Amino acid sequence: MELPFAESWKIKMVEPIRKSTREEREQWIKEAHYNVFQLKANQVYIDLLTDSGTGAMSDRQWAGIMTGDESYAGADSFFRLKETIERLTGFKYVIPTHQGRAAENVLFSYLVHEGDIVPGNSHFDTTKGHIEGRKAIALDCTIDEAKQTQLEVPFKGNVDPAKLERALEEHADRIPFIIVTITNNTAGGQPVSMENLRQVRAVADKFHKPVLFDSARFAENAYFIKTREEGYANKTIKEITREMFAMADGMTMSAKKDGIVNMGGFIATNRQDWYEGAKGFCVQFEGYLTYGGMNGRDMNALAIGLDENTEFDNLETRIHQVHHLAEKLDEYGIPYQRPAGGHAIFVDAPKVLTHVPKEEFPAQTLTIELYLEAGIRGCEIGYLLADRDPVTRENRFDGLDLLRLAIPRRVYTDNHMDVIAAALKNVYDRREQVTRGVRIAWEAPIMRHFTVQLERL
Ligand code: F0G
Repeated sequence: MELPFAESWKIKMVEPIRKSTREEREQWIKEAHYNVFQLKANQVYIDLLTDSGTGAMSDRQWAGIMTGDESYAGADSFFRLKETIERLTGFKYVIPTHQGRAAENVLFSYLVHEGDIVPGNSHFDTTKGHIEGRKAIALDCTIDEAKQTQLEVPFKGNVDPAKLERALEEHADRIPFIIVTITNNTAGGQPVSMENLRQVRAVADKFHKPVLFDSARFAENAYFIKTREEGYANKTIKEITREMFAMADGMTMSAKKDGIVNMGGFIATNRQDWYEGAKGFCVQFEGYLTYGGMNGRDMNALAIGLDENTEFDNLETRIHQVHHLAEKLDEYGIPYQRPAGGHAIFVDAPKVLTHVPKEEFPAQTLTIELYLEAGIRGCEIGYLLADRDPVTRENRFDGLDLLRLAIPRRVYTDNHMDVIAAALKNVYDRREQVTRGVRIAWEAPIMRHFTVQLERL
């Protein structure tokens, strides 16, 4: 018989986790004002708040921690990291930062100015924040298909080349660069095809504009190119990453995702002008150029993590697990953004809680229900996160309203996935009884979802 699938690693160290009672959870979520960001981590059984900085490092990475070089300037660990990044991406200038948004801050301080427009596929919140904070505009040119959760297309994270071209025709003088987020987190961890990267490059070349990749999950993107795009089945992940980055002028990276470290990030580019322009901001905001925001030991762990996570087996184990969860949800008929993405499942909350009006935040309500059911912490990527329109101050209900279940790398087993699916099924089975959601009792003017206080209706 054919042997079943199994993980490409074995476990050397474990961390106990604790179940709780429904009564305890009722109390805790109330004290947290029905906002899961306000829960204590020890009040959570399975934590799917994010896949960022929550992965498990390998024994090799921990060994790298012991041999880190903490020299202020010219540390071995920096050169090891730089060599690895250059080998995987082809970029020779590297600026380490403490995490992804710091890379954005350093590079955008040089590149983005008031009145600019930065087009691309869905900009991540912090990316958008760093653009809008400079009084510039983040213009979303994602393909329309990404908004239909039940439509199955293999590269749902793609940029719409026609929308991009239109933006350039109308505003070329205001556009400093094009940004492509791989994978497209906001659209559901959906990949961008090599063909699409090539199309973006062609549009950029036509208008003489540079291209930046927000690369937090670039290795998962390469996995999808290998497994879904014609002509890539026999290429290694490392060959594919080189080919992807050949289409860009530079990258910002949150290393907390595909670098499988708990903290870290970087900028990498071949453009000397970007490097020269950004490096002063690195010194100002992060640290000297050969450590930026990172310890030497952490740069070692990141170099090793990048190398390991651009191997097919590691990625296959990871994405297989996300897809295992998706298959369980299919079995139970629970609707999510299809096909399942690389790092998370995004449950389509208004399709589950059909009786909860949008004004009462279905995805947040589902997040609370799942926590109450089994102590599982997902997070709302929906109407709360969308904040209010900056001009009208009205809530923005025009996007998707999703419950994201982000799966940390190498942390939980498939048994945990089965628990998550069963808990969701229990909520799904009593969805008719959930007729009311939540109302906002207090909110911050921007990025309200982290601190919002809610009341259950
Ligand atoms: N870009 C993307 C696509 C991201 O998903 C994130 C973070 C960042 C940039 C910022 O990186 O957190 O290291 O400063 N995403 C996390 C998430 C927080 O939960 O999706 P950072």
